[in-house]
Amino acid sequence: MSTPLLHKVYDSSIFKEEGDHLINLLSDYLSKTVSMESEKVINWSEPDEEYLFWKNFKQKGYTTSQLFQTVIERSIHTHHPHYIGHQVAPSVPLSALATLLSAQLNNGMAVYEMGAASTALERVVIEFFTQALGFKNGDGFLTSGGTLANLTALLAARSIKASSDVWNEGATHKLAILVSEEAHYCVDRSARIMGLGSGGIIKIPSDKNFKMRTDLLETYYAQAINNGFEIIAVVGSAPSTSTGVYDDLEAISAFAKAKNIWFHIDAAHGGAAIFSSKYKQLLNGANQADSIIIDGHKMMGISAITTAVLFKKSTSSYAAFEQKAQYLWEKNDDPDWFNLAKRTFECTKSMMSLRFYVLINAYGSQFFEDFLTTLYDTAINFGAFIKEQKDFELALDPVSNIVCFRHIGKGGNLDDINLNIRRSLLEDGIFYIVSTRLRGDFFLRMTVMNPFTNMTHLAALLENIRKIVNNK
Ligand SMILES: Cc1ncc(COP(=O)(O)O)c(C=O)c1O
Repeated sequence: MSTPLLHKVYDSSIFKEEGDHLINLLSDYLSKTVSMESEKVINWSEPDEEYLFWKNFKQKGYTTSQLFQTVIERSIHTHHPHYIGHQVAPSVPLSALATLLSAQLNNGMAVYEMGAASTALERVVIEFFTQALGFKNGDGFLTSGGTLANLTALLAARSIKASSDVWNEGATHKLAILVSEEAHYCVDRSARIMGLGSGGIIKIPSDKNFKMRTDLLETYYAQAINNGFEIIAVVGSAPSTSTGVYDDLEAISAFAKAKNIWFHIDAAHGGAAIFSSKYKQLLNGANQADSIIIDGHKMMGISAITTAVLFKKSTSSYAAFEQKAQYLWEKNDDPDWFNLAKRTFECTKSMMSLRFYVLINAYGSQFFEDFLTTLYDTAINFGAFIKEQKDFELALDPVSNIVCFRHIGKGGNLDDINLNIRRSLLEDGIFYIVSTRLRGDFFLRMTVMNPFTNMTHLAALLENIRKIVNNK
């Protein structure tokens, strides 16, 4: 029997009232962060302190809108032009609204009936990608993030390329993949989940610019074969996470073809360059990939979390979790494209196609072009600017929106100096940047994710760093 509380919980007038508050709050938030009226990009607190704050929150008897306001205040602000840290986009407001729609409709998506509109839209969104990539007979689906997307694509690779039926029989012999030492850690993780073990993740060294040394592929391949491995795939990064450098996809593709192995591209970060007339050449060779993944929540401005998993051959799109069925589909005119859980790791998943489609519908591919091109341009200009500063060192010329650099002005232990800079910036909260280690050395790392970040902001960052160094 429904109770008064249940009626209250689902009361549409409360939804409207709270919804109006929230939209007003977010609208105010958007304008204050983008314009930098709110000074800080992060209000830093130590994890235990934050935990205690929230543990005691309920006792204070705050309303829902006060709760939402407090969450905003205590969260990092990706829409602030001084947010130049990890690779998460300041979500486009329309995409956030689509996420709200998805959350309230809560269609489950696993089978067609549980999300007719969003299932059909998912196909439209996938076609948007496959056309841009030049996959004439391509297909794919959306999944929850680049990590899961890479795992799914590699499962398809194993299903199609391995000489044994691992899905049904388990591992019968040693399988391996080739990947740059600079690849995102999730590729390594995927391989381990697939039971390849440390030996099955063959890391190809990178050159001085952190690109995979494709000239070494043959040697590493031969060694692995001698050691009893069957190589099923080679993975290119477009770009790699630490430095933002794209691997030579054409060379990797040629190698994959020669060896008859799967060619997968982890383009979680930079696959959206396909929509930029200026930067699409970074993806030359991508049209030869067997699979490629592209994150919406990185370089496409889409609310987290949503990733496209794309296959050159539509039949491959069914291979990850349906090893037997893939043979069936090849002969079958009706591959049941609309029951998405056959192809995704998730059973229930969010209606993520809406977040893409709302932008395609409102702005077309021009938005994706403007977004990525602006971010890459700004970072590349900033790289040139750093080079002119005597007290800073640029790790490498940026080719995308990721820039690695460090302060060298005062001599001493550069790792300690730059570790301190990063920590001071975090605690101060005026800028948010991150860090990486390149060949063992500590570098400051930033990703221009916000199209409103400009050279004035970035020059101010360097001034801020100088002040930190001079105060120590
Ligand atoms: C190249 C690359 N691949 C995969 C991932 C993981 O993507 P996600 O965070 O969507 O799981 C990242 C995240 O930074 C990345 O840079």
